[in-house]
Order: sequence, then C-alpha cells, then structure tokens
Amino acid sequence: LVAGIDSSTQACKVMVCDARTGEVVRTGRAAHPDGTEVHPDHWWTALQEATSGGLLEGVSAISVAGQQHGMVCLDEDQRVVRPALLWNDTRSAPDALDLIDELGGAQAWAEAIGVVPVAAITVTKLRWLARNEPDHLARTRTVVLPHDWLTSRLLAGDGPVQRWVTDRSDASGTGYFSATTDTYRDDLLRLATGRGDLELPEVLGPATAAGRSPAGRMVGPGAGDNAAAALGLGLRGGDVAVSLGTSGTAFASHPRPTQDPTGEVAGFADAAGGHLPLMCTLNAARVLGAGAAALGTDLAGLERLALEAEPGAGGLTLLPYLDGERTPNLPTATGTLSGMTRNNLTPANVARAFVEGMLLNVAAGVDALRREGVDVERVLLIGGATGSAAVREIAATFIGVPLVVPAPGEYVARGAARQAAWVLSGEDTCPEWAAVELVVGAEPVVDPLVEEVKGRYAELLATMHGVRQ
Ligand code: XUL
Repeated sequence: LVAGIDSSTQACKVMVCDARTGEVVRTGRAAHPDGTEVHPDHWWTALQEATSGGLLEGVSAISVAGQQHGMVCLDEDQRVVRPALLWNDTRSAPDALDLIDELGGAQAWAEAIGVVPVAAITVTKLRWLARNEPDHLARTRTVVLPHDWLTSRLLAGDGPVQRWVTDRSDASGTGYFSATTDTYRDDLLRLATGRGDLELPEVLGPATAAGRSPAGRMVGPGAGDNAAAALGLGLRGGDVAVSLGTSGTAFASHPRPTQDPTGEVAGFADAAGGHLPLMCTLNAARVLGAGAAALGTDLAGLERLALEAEPGAGGLTLLPYLDGERTPNLPTATGTLSGMTRNNLTPANVARAFVEGMLLNVAAGVDALRREGVDVERVLLIGGATGSAAVREIAATFIGVPLVVPAPGEYVARGAARQAAWVLSGEDTCPEWAAVELVVGAEPVVDPLVEEVKGRYAELLATMHGVRQ
C-alpha cells in the first residue's frame, strides 16, 4: 500500500491506495485553521489526526502534496520563526511590484524563471519580511514550503531534521528557482532579502526517495498540490485541468517551459519531469458559499436558484473578487455586481451571476494557456465546486471544448499516492494506474448568449479595473 497526503489550505486529506492499481483502500481527513497566516504545527497536528486509528497500517511509501508558495521560515534550531504566510495572503503585493521593477520589468522575470512575481509567490513574501519584520528575517536560517516542512517532519519524527528536501514542482513556485535550468536563482533570493546565506531545501527528482520515516516507510519528494493533481488525474497532451477549490486553477502538463510576461500563466514544473503552465485565481468555490449566504440559502439553494434563471442572469454581471484577485493581478480589488434594475434583481438572477462570474474568471485561464501554446482538446473539471450541477452545466457553455467531470475524488492526494508508488517501484516511469472514472462528458454547448455574457464581463473588467484579458 501507498499513501498520499494533500495538505491543502482548508484541510489535510489522506488517501491510502493499492500501489499497483491505485484502488482506494482507506481515506482520512482533518481540518486546518482558517486564515492566510498559519503556524505549520497545525498542519502536522492535522496530519496526525487524519492518519490516526491505524490509517497508515501496511503502508510502505508515502508522499506529501501541499498548498504551494507558503513561506515557512526556520531559525538555526529549526524552530518556526513566525506563522507561515500562505499563497492567498496578499500583503506582499507592493513588494511584488518593487521586485518586478528592480529586475528590469516583467519580461526580465519571465525570461529568468518563467514566473512574474505576484503576492502569492514566496519571493515577494520574503521581501515583505525583509521590509516589515527585519528581526524575523535576521533570525531565519532556512526557508521551506509547506510540503517540504511536512516531508522533513515525516522523515525526522520527533527528532531533529537531518535534511530539508523539496521537489521541482513546488520549488518552481518560489520565485527563486528556474524550471528551465532546474537550478535555484540565488541572485533573485538575494535581491529580495539582501541575504546570500539562506539555506534552501535540496530539490529531488520526481521519483527520488527523500529517505525513510522512523516507521520504516519510504518518503517521496512530494509536490505542489496542482502538480500532484496532474499526476492523480493522469493528464495527457490536449488535457487541461480546471480546479475549483479554494483557488481556481487551470493547468496542463506540457513538454516545454513557458515564459508569459503578462504573468497570467506561471511557468511551473510538473511532478513528472515536465512543465505545468498554470493560471491561478483567488476566487473559486468560496464565491459560491458567499453568494449563498448573501441570499440566505445554502449551496444547494444557490444551485437551484441559478438553474432557474436564464443564461446571462437577466443582465447581471459579477466580478467575483471577494478575496482580492491574483489573475488578473488586482490584490486590493473587491467584487462588483453590475447591471441591476428593478426588474432583474431576483434571487435567481443573482445566484446565476455568482456562478457565471466565478466561472468566467477561471475560464480566462484556459484561453491564457492556449495563448502560451498549450493544446486544449478537452477540459477536466475538478474540485469541490464541481459537486454543483449549476457549475457543471454553465461551465460547459463557457469552456468551448468538450468538458469532462471526473468522479468526485481527492485527485491531489491520489497524485501524491501515485508518486509514492513510483518511488516504491524504483522504475524510470510513473506506474500506470486505472484511468480516472468520468461521470459527465459534455460536448461544448453552443449558446448564442455566451458571447454576449463574456463580452459584458470583459467590458466590466475594463471599466472597473482597466484590465483587458
Ligand atoms: C497555485 C496556488 C494555489 C495553491 C492552493 O499557484 O497558489 O493553487 O497551491 O493550494
């Protein structure tokens, strides 16, 4: 048996699978605290809770996938210096702009590492630390990511960590690692922090064992959560995954590095030795929860209302920036509901506008990937929000290519488990697991209103924020 862990923003999810077939044997789960600043000890406690009751019995190898980009600073005694700033913490937005200027512009960053810094990216959080908490930076000896921290804790048990490790996929989201050359860019870390002596985790190959846990289990290199999802889904050429979780992401496994100077597509690495061009928004599943609460209903109620309304929500348009936004890069933006009249302001139209706005925001990622040369033949829709029939139905009209919805499942944890199986096998290629079961397969739905709805959304974005996508 192998185990995969998804240490995500909101919860720790564990999946124990048969190493040869990928069949799910057991699962576990524990919640994480809310917030964009979290002490890593909470992740460890949640992992212990999620694996309690003998969940890992008979498991020979384990890998951790985690929320990307979080800044975990450790002092020389390996103590956490301050709570980790997570990917969705936007306080370092001004630092991102400074860093872009200091290197000579967005193009220079795209050429250097394939990623243009935004508040999500670790390097901007380190600059924020240098500017706002210099004492904390001075105490910092080692900087790691959430999944690195958990992997090293798994290796060390209660003892001191002997070795900090990471993998290419997560390293490529730091802002000081190039997925093209597979090397750290110490110059960029120095630019952000003024320090040339920070210790970084060793970047392991996709199937290189990090070591063994005190319980004797092989521990894999782990991965960023989106890269693990690509592995869990078994993405092939022509597939684009759209994930509607806390973040909304659109990504593909791609043979070549990308360098998008607009910053919409980040040129990350994948967890199989290739690349993972990715677009990420801050507003996805939770937009629906907020919309439901505002309408005094729950998610099922929002879904029912949204399906009662006509496409286009009677002329209402929502820019869903309830948590600020990362793509487009509008960290201080708030949401806008536009087009209200006395006639169209019905609960059904408002519900529909919430679903349409959330989807249009993420669907822009599919177009952005296409612009970067990604072949888009079909879209796989995953993540918590796909449980909603309204989301699935409306997505089919916006995406423009065949849309498939895999059976509900934890694809990040599955990908981590598949990596563990790879490490255990000692083979050069990742083990083939049973193909993911698809519950919905929809040909693109052609709705004449869709272009109008998209146009209205683009117009509102341009008027409110001066952004043309
Ligand atoms: C990707 C990103 C998010 C987090 C969420 O760049 O920031 O998808 O990984 O877990």
